[in-house]
Amino acid sequence: YQTLAPFPPGFLWGASTSAYQAEGAWNEDGKGPSVIDRAVFPPELSDFTVASDHYHRFAGDIALFAELGLKTYRFSIAWSRLYPEGDGALNPEGAAFYHRLIDEIRRHGIEPLVTLYHFDLPWALQQRGGWSDPRTIGAFERFARTAFKLYGDRVNYWLTINEQNMMILKGDVIGTLPPGTPDPQRTLYQQNHHMMLAQARAMIACHELLPAAKIGPAPNISCVYPATSRPEDAVAANNYASIRNWLYLDLACHGRYNAVAWSFMAEKGFLPHITADEMSLLAQGRPDFIAFNYYASTTVAADLPLDNHSAGRGREIEDRQLPGMDRSVYIGVDNPHLEHNQFGWYLDPVGFRVTCREIYERYHLPLIVTENGLGAFDTLEAGNKVHDDERIRYLSDHIRQLQLAITDGVRLFGYCPWSAIDLVSTHQGIGKRYGFVYVNRDERDLKDLARFRKKSFFWYQRLIKSNGRRL
Ligand code: BG6
Repeated sequence: YQTLAPFPPGFLWGASTSAYQAEGAWNEDGKGPSVIDRAVFPPELSDFTVASDHYHRFAGDIALFAELGLKTYRFSIAWSRLYPEGDGALNPEGAAFYHRLIDEIRRHGIEPLVTLYHFDLPWALQQRGGWSDPRTIGAFERFARTAFKLYGDRVNYWLTINEQNMMILKGDVIGTLPPGTPDPQRTLYQQNHHMMLAQARAMIACHELLPAAKIGPAPNISCVYPATSRPEDAVAANNYASIRNWLYLDLACHGRYNAVAWSFMAEKGFLPHITADEMSLLAQGRPDFIAFNYYASTTVAADLPLDNHSAGRGREIEDRQLPGMDRSVYIGVDNPHLEHNQFGWYLDPVGFRVTCREIYERYHLPLIVTENGLGAFDTLEAGNKVHDDERIRYLSDHIRQLQLAITDGVRLFGYCPWSAIDLVSTHQGIGKRYGFVYVNRDERDLKDLARFRKKSFFWYQRLIKSNGRRL
């Protein structure tokens, strides 16, 4: 292009967190335990009991986000703070916390972007079957309706379920698959179906209770490449993209199962139990936009001789055992054209542009990026400085590609990197940091939990002030 389209006026420059990774206060003011609070983590890593102590320090944190210039702040509601038992009695102190948080966000002129459910299913629900039990669908709808009624006068943007696809693809680590579950993959696809119904009910309830508000799903979408120009590799890439990405968005947006993913599930014996009424419910639930998280791309090959490929190093290929991961469907391979970070995730800003175009062309709904960022072992240096130049490069490269995607014609209304402030990673502790704000604690030593602005803070502040012109 000779000239790039500018970021639209009112573009929602933001940043994200989730309740269990930032709040701490895991058992305070009546909060019930979640699956996260009952999970076992390696003893050398931080658990989630204190996390970044955002629960007690949110006012100072929001002041920092205002100084950063955020137009929106994405956070999640801890379901078991509102409903300690998942669907029993409402906990008024939990409800009051989110009133205070949302008021504080609004007082600074920031738009709240609220995720209803970010991995932290109430433990009481898990004990009676979790997402395998259809009663959890009703419990989620009730929780969502309560959130809409309590906060809907101040919240215009809602997200249903964070990374439902990763909960299914990695059900034993961030999902709700109890260890030793027989027939785990069939169980996960049944859970997936129930989550889809829960999401549809939440979208319908949102439109009924808050006609002016907008709601959408928030899957993790990876750009998927075929390893070579061999047609068989193209089929493998298409298989993988269907099972990993489109299954979830086709259900959320069109209310129907992706054909390739369906055939895969049928072939493997993973088909969920489904009724006609459920399919009509899925068709009624309509998102207003698509939110998605993007970190990396994946390269896959068909099951052909591996002479050109070393072992796959993509994020999910290396550390995520996929359901039905089967060499007749796809195998993950290295991508010699890309660098990867120290955690094995391929850095691929151009793949970000491709992903925006693909999602937009498939669904024709406005898009917002709700996560994108670089995890790194940041160090606090003299004068409480953090020189996170690598993160700045990562974000800047990705934002440049977003602008290209907008120039390509993609309707994009916001960008929320992960994360607003340092928080505890899903399974790699607090040492793997993502934030614009450094939180002074180690894995096991809480120190003083003081907040320090990283170099990326000042960089993002300038960028927001110029509405994306000063990259
Ligand atoms: C996404 C999640 O998978 O990626 C976040 O929505 C998570 O909760 C983020 O923290 C980064 O992943 P990780 O495993 O490095 O924490």
